[in-house]
Amino acid sequence: MKHLLSLLSLVVLLTSPLFAQDDAAEAPETKSLFSTPVVLQIPSETSIGMVWGVNGPAAGFVEYSTKEDLSDAKRVYACVPPLRSIQEKVLSVRIRGLEPNTKYYYRAATLPVDYPNAYKVTVGEPEYSAVHSFTTLGDKARASFSVINDTHANFPTFQVLDKKVKSLNPTVLVWNGDTGEMTSEEHAVQTLLYPGACAFAEDYPVLFVPGNHDNRGPWVRNIDKVLIKRNPEERDSKYWSLGRNFAVRVGEMAIIGLDTGEDKPDAHPVFQGLAEFEPYRELQTQWFKETLERPEIKSAPFIVVFCHIPIFDKDPTANPGNIMEGFASWQKPCSDMWSPLLKQYGVQTVICAHMHHFRYDEPTEDRPWGQFVGGGHALTDRYDTATVISGCVEDGQLVIRVYRMSDDALIKEVKFEKREL
Ligand SMILES: [Fe+2]
Repeated sequence: MKHLLSLLSLVVLLTSPLFAQDDAAEAPETKSLFSTPVVLQIPSETSIGMVWGVNGPAAGFVEYSTKEDLSDAKRVYACVPPLRSIQEKVLSVRIRGLEPNTKYYYRAATLPVDYPNAYKVTVGEPEYSAVHSFTTLGDKARASFSVINDTHANFPTFQVLDKKVKSLNPTVLVWNGDTGEMTSEEHAVQTLLYPGACAFAEDYPVLFVPGNHDNRGPWVRNIDKVLIKRNPEERDSKYWSLGRNFAVRVGEMAIIGLDTGEDKPDAHPVFQGLAEFEPYRELQTQWFKETLERPEIKSAPFIVVFCHIPIFDKDPTANPGNIMEGFASWQKPCSDMWSPLLKQYGVQTVICAHMHHFRYDEPTEDRPWGQFVGGGHALTDRYDTATVISGCVEDGQLVIRVYRMSDDALIKEVKFEKREL
């Protein structure tokens, strides 16, 4: 009888909802192989980078085509030749040989890899992303950009910025620095590829302009894994070490990214002798000079330059970045080298960040370019000083608009005439 009761108890237990729940909990999890959406990076007229987070170890590829159904898609693997990549956390692909001013559709695939020893490797079935699209840059691209800055891993604010940028649907997004310190690979993947759970650059690409904070953190020297460097075609160039400068045509606009670097002199004790921003800025000056002479840049009716730290401040007491006390409010060393070029080539405007409060410095006779300083907010539960800046060409003029995120108000609109060519 005792055994019968025990058997009945076991049957009741096995058929109870509680047991069923436990059984479900023990079922294998179906975790996506993607830990982030694809982030389109460093676009050019004929190439584009794609980076995405993975729950690895994983390999991956991208399929792309001008046809939405991808029926004639070409495939490019994440690869460091001659081996296709296997990565734990992030994969990247660079697609080359594209046509300028052309819309492409794409999807990414992630493949699980089991590699227990040198002579055994197993690759599983691919998991695909949804199909998205991008348009390559060029002189016939839609002349439009949006700018965000000083996001500082403040994800609630990032969500507000992302929503605004999506409503503007720019040809290219410029992330104008201070994304946050890079403490680990996980942190870098979350901060740079999936901030605030936003798929922020799936359908238009992002160009990163480094800020002073983007040079900080124990993992920052590995950042190329998450932020693709310049075009690999330029690897042999004397400017390869510059990293993230860019100069591309977006329709009638040429947009140029410069890197103001850290906000203190290289000799500041905080760097412990591990910083070389001063020669880096000088090398950029040579690059900038040559870039402004490139035919596709020189012929642009409008030139917009982006850099994180302002390169002008009308306040004579503002910290110029070349003293040991405090930190830069503006970068006089950069200004001394770059301002003459901005004037010589008739650059209409410079768009900066860093100060977290919006301001616009009107052009003067001596400084004939207007300087926008985008607002930002580092506190996690506020975004009252954050801005989104947009640029486009309307009726033959460059129009820059600044939107305040606390109420989505248009707080500034400035129009610029074409350069004298
Ligand atoms: Fe900054």
